Amino acid sequence: MDLSVEGRKPLEARADVLVVGQHGDGARPAPEVAALDRALGGLLSRVLKSEKFEGKAGQISYFHTNGAVPAGRVIVVGLGSRKPGERARGDAEPIRRATASAVRRARDLGASTVAIFMPALPARERAQAIAEGALLGTYRFDKYLKEKNGKVIGALTVLEPDRRNLAAAREGARVGRVWAEATCVTRDLVNEPANVVTPSFLARRAAEIAKEGGLKLRVLERAECSKMGMGAFVGVAQGSEEPPKFIHLTYTPSGRARRRIVVIGKGITFDSGGLDLKTADGMLRMKDDMSGAAAVLGIFQALPRLKPPVEVHGLIAATENMPSGAAQRPGDVVRVMNGLTVEIGNTDAEGRLTLADALAYAVKHIEPDEMIDMATLTGAVVIALGQGVSGVMASDDGLAARVLAAADVAGERMWRLPLHDEYKEGLKSEVADLNNVSSQRGAGAIVAGLFMREFTAGVPWAHLDIAGTAFTERDLPLGPKGATGVTVRTLLSYLGSVNGRR
Ligand code: BES
Ligand code: MN
Ligand code: ZN
Repeated sequence: MDLSVEGRKPLEARADVLVVGQHGDGARPAPEVAALDRALGGLLSRVLKSEKFEGKAGQISYFHTNGAVPAGRVIVVGLGSRKPGERARGDAEPIRRATASAVRRARDLGASTVAIFMPALPARERAQAIAEGALLGTYRFDKYLKEKNGKVIGALTVLEPDRRNLAAAREGARVGRVWAEATCVTRDLVNEPANVVTPSFLARRAAEIAKEGGLKLRVLERAECSKMGMGAFVGVAQGSEEPPKFIHLTYTPSGRARRRIVVIGKGITFDSGGLDLKTADGMLRMKDDMSGAAAVLGIFQALPRLKPPVEVHGLIAATENMPSGAAQRPGDVVRVMNGLTVEIGNTDAEGRLTLADALAYAVKHIEPDEMIDMATLTGAVVIALGQGVSGVMASDDGLAARVLAAADVAGERMWRLPLHDEYKEGLKSEVADLNNVSSQRGAGAIVAGLFMREFTAGVPWAHLDIAGTAFTERDLPLGPKGATGVTVRTLLSYLGSVNGRR
């Protein structure tokens, strides 16, 4: 989709479909929309009135202009009620969602060019939200379908009637495009089946992204991982015919880096459970167990385009978790790179094992200021927070607050869970320093977080459990069934907002 910003009024827009936003609760139309209505001889207000259009979020009304203005059709889309004292930032979500549903409708109506005017937010944030909404909302994964839906929007024009805002709007649209395209890189990787997306595939994709963006890449093979002491990661990988890969991407800013940040993604390309085999139902969706890894790759695709003043390292310990004659057994003891030993209480709690080695590697070889991991880690977080909210756990209150604020900007719902120290009791083992599962009931998401905290060596760390949010069984406002690309925009917002010097 071509995306541009033009200094035109809605009534001047030339496109198959012109989209305009309208707040609810009897809000008066924006002056630009009132002018459009006058140019249309009052058609817009008559249509809205006869349809009892209330401006509720996502509500849509449309009509032909019969040549009264250059645009062929007009879609009016509801923005919901304008909140009293609506803040400049943080309320981009109604714009994203309204844009997504209106642009989808325009596409379904056969339009190939769309112009859009939204009456909210400062120009930069507005254009960014429009770009995100349009690109995320029209995402499809249809490469394996013989019959594809041929309708596509060729060009979208963001209308910015106040020409003084053009530069800001253009920058907003650019950033929105980068954020959305990175999210779609992630969605594609997660939607691909596990017979395509193997650890080797992730390593090749990392190489492409590194080449495109001029990033540093290091890929460690199984033997090197063993030699370096990643006993927990290699233990998970030992039951699989697919060779594991440990992927380390580095983005270095051109100027002085304000901070050194590690982002880690869980990269289990298929989670069968291992010898503690999952049920058929439980295994069904387990191609998505590399959603954290896919988010890392999406983020690194975007970083060279955004150029934030931070040094960012991306780590993925990629492997399948399979049962076989060579597979790790319940009761085995493995040693993580930081020297701690772990008894395997359950081979299906594999994510925390691979992440333990990634965290220990980061501490030892990168010496970061902070670390953030993203992982489809526990069914328990789905019980706790459902499919709409990601769990956040953190060893550092400041980092947790900053990540939550970034999630707010991105419109991704996240909620912090407490790393309650007393639950660590349950992770005790008779034969090793830790067990990988708890002997106590409940709080599975927190227990997994507490397990991983043992490998952070006091470096400020945040953990995002995205088991409920990485993949959706129903269409959402900003995308269809399937992979969501969650955390990509939150992390890009976070990395773009880091200030303070090392
Ligand atoms: N990948 C799963 C977690 C998961 C569950 C993701 C449902 C998405 C949807 C993880 O590896 C796992 O199997 N976790 C176990 C841990 C248990 C054995 C302590 C779980 O949550 O059941
Ligand atoms: Mn598992
Ligand atoms: Zn898993």
